[in-house]
Amino acid sequence: MSPTGTWSYPTSIRFGAGRISEIADACQVAGISKPLLVTDKGLAGMEITTRTLDLLEEAGLRCGLFSAVDPNPTDLNSNEGVRAFREGGYDGVIAFGGGSGLDLAKVIAFMAGQTRPLWDFEDIGDWWTRANADAIAPIVAVPTTAGTGSEVGKASVITNSESHDKKIIFHPKMLPSVVICDPELTVGMPKFITAGTGLDAFAHCVEAYSSPHYHPMSQGIALEGMRLVKDYLPRAYEDGTDIEARANMMSAASMGATAFQKGLGAIHALSHPIGAVHHTHHGTTNAVCMPAVLKFNADAIRDRFDAAAAYLGIEGGFDGFCAYVDDLNASMGVPKTLTELGVDDPDIDALTDAALRDPSTGGNPIEMTHENTRALFEQCL
Ligand SMILES: [Fe+2]
Repeated sequence: MSPTGTWSYPTSIRFGAGRISEIADACQVAGISKPLLVTDKGLAGMEITTRTLDLLEEAGLRCGLFSAVDPNPTDLNSNEGVRAFREGGYDGVIAFGGGSGLDLAKVIAFMAGQTRPLWDFEDIGDWWTRANADAIAPIVAVPTTAGTGSEVGKASVITNSESHDKKIIFHPKMLPSVVICDPELTVGMPKFITAGTGLDAFAHCVEAYSSPHYHPMSQGIALEGMRLVKDYLPRAYEDGTDIEARANMMSAASMGATAFQKGLGAIHALSHPIGAVHHTHHGTTNAVCMPAVLKFNADAIRDRFDAAAAYLGIEGGFDGFCAYVDDLNASMGVPKTLTELGVDDPDIDALTDAALRDPSTGGNPIEMTHENTRALFEQCL
């Protein structure tokens, strides 16, 4: 393969415990004087959110709050958020939360000044060039989970409320100008979410590392991201107040999303339609699918996972890595099958078609066909 690629690496990140105190300064640096803080319903009333709003008020910034965000955010959430942004006269967005809050916030900032409908900007070819880039509002991102990595991404996953397909909306200016990664914000996450989000970060690293595209920087970041998950996710799961573990998981999350510009693969291709139709937790769904996908890709990834296993201190090369993944899932109570996860009466053919339409499919090292993808779904169920 001839080494070619188009690379871009992430943004300004203020990393460390307590750095949420810099939120007002981060807004100033991003050019925001009247921010709309976008988060999900669950977080809206929580102490970390009210404290952040207080910090902004103390600094003299008049901040609004929008929290009508579904767990798998939709175009309807986006329309409502854009209306709130315009009516309130805001000039930037604070994206605050886990994957749903961050993704919807980025789309609201993006759509705030556009005149075309959302789906005109799906991540297909150069559709992003249809956008008026000057009208995109600046974004400060504050993750409160350690998984999605959306804080360092230029895209959002939004569910089409009519077709139930998960679509990717992409624009280079959807990349937050400033990110605050404060691990103290993740201390209150319940065990189930710590596991599910952490395993999402792990899936990003595993799929980026498996993708056949040429991107050695991503490859290194993905490998070190896997190590951080291996060393620190069990600690964060056991003791949510372990700040060192929480901090390293926050790094792993940003690293996973940085790495996956190299590509995702079958784990996400399967997980996206399952989540869109059956409303399962994204990271947990990935974790359930990972063992079957590793075996599905074995012929293409065995050598590189032999090397990864050696770096991670896992005996037995690729097979040892697969056994490690089974043990990791089991140690955090991840179900073994999608059925156990609550996927009831699935339309396997419709899910297969949706998986093959998913952009993650292109990054899988083994070509996904209707036949082998359907069989993979059946195995995961
Ligand atoms: Fe993911």
